[in-house]
Amino acid sequence: MSMKSEKLASPPGAAENGGVNLPETSGLLQAKKERKKVTLHQLRLMHSAGEKIAMLTCYDATFARVLNNAGVDAILVGDSLGMVVQGRDSTVRVSLDEMLYHTRCVARGNTHAWIVGDLPFGSYHQSVDQAMRSASALMQSGAHMVKLEGGGWTVDTVRFMSERGVSVCSHLGLTPQSVHALGGYRVQGRDSLAAQTLALQAQELADAGAAMMVLELIPSALAAKVTAALPIPVIGIGAGAQCSGQVLVLHDMLGVADGRAPKFARDFVNDSDGLDRGIESAVRRYVAAVKDGSFPVESVHTY
Ligand code: KIV
Repeated sequence: MSMKSEKLASPPGAAENGGVNLPETSGLLQAKKERKKVTLHQLRLMHSAGEKIAMLTCYDATFARVLNNAGVDAILVGDSLGMVVQGRDSTVRVSLDEMLYHTRCVARGNTHAWIVGDLPFGSYHQSVDQAMRSASALMQSGAHMVKLEGGGWTVDTVRFMSERGVSVCSHLGLTPQSVHALGGYRVQGRDSLAAQTLALQAQELADAGAAMMVLELIPSALAAKVTAALPIPVIGIGAGAQCSGQVLVLHDMLGVADGRAPKFARDFVNDSDGLDRGIESAVRRYVAAVKDGSFPVESVHTY
């Protein structure tokens, strides 16, 4: 492992403290300092202490290393890779083999984050046996937890897998694998019946053994209510600030989603200080430097 990948990100407040002292009060910062592996137990402690959980999607070893060095608690190897890596218009065609490949890549670059692997469309729909086989393959590829979409009909699957030692994350609200049935990427749980149904399903899934839950694209008041009612960490995406933590698709927060990022995403590369520091601008500078001959520099980049 290179020196670079060993480097820890500077925590907030490090400058005031001469770059070494971390506030004793923050479990997250403490965990980063000691580079402890994040476990489900630790996520539960963070949840009960009210410490927000930071999760991002990731699909390869290099970014897994970057995310670890920056202190993310959990990585989601999401089937969103169908859209942001494969260029498809939905997640529906992602295969289990593709998920296994990307999970293995992420696991190789991971040092301490909790890895959640998505069960793709069709890999858990037929029977609990099929789901268990798919979950086993994901875990043997490096996932610590598997995520599956849907309420009601997934309860038996969640129970079956949890009883057999699989940690399971459920996913409610906008469930992208059902995008065609839902009529597009639309906010879910808006009317009171839909909201009630979602809250009931969330409770059933937690009772069946789900250890974590993702809520996507639902009104923040509903997400807050579900989060308060459940004993497990609830991670929001487009679900407001009251969840136990947040997840974003990596490409959305890096500002490389080509105008396709949803309203709830924030571009953390380009919006921080108004300066043009984005990845696209770095590539633009590379092209310009090659063309004007300022790269490579004889004394620096050549042998
Ligand atoms: O696949 C994915 O990235 C996801 C997130 C949108 C939660 O499921």
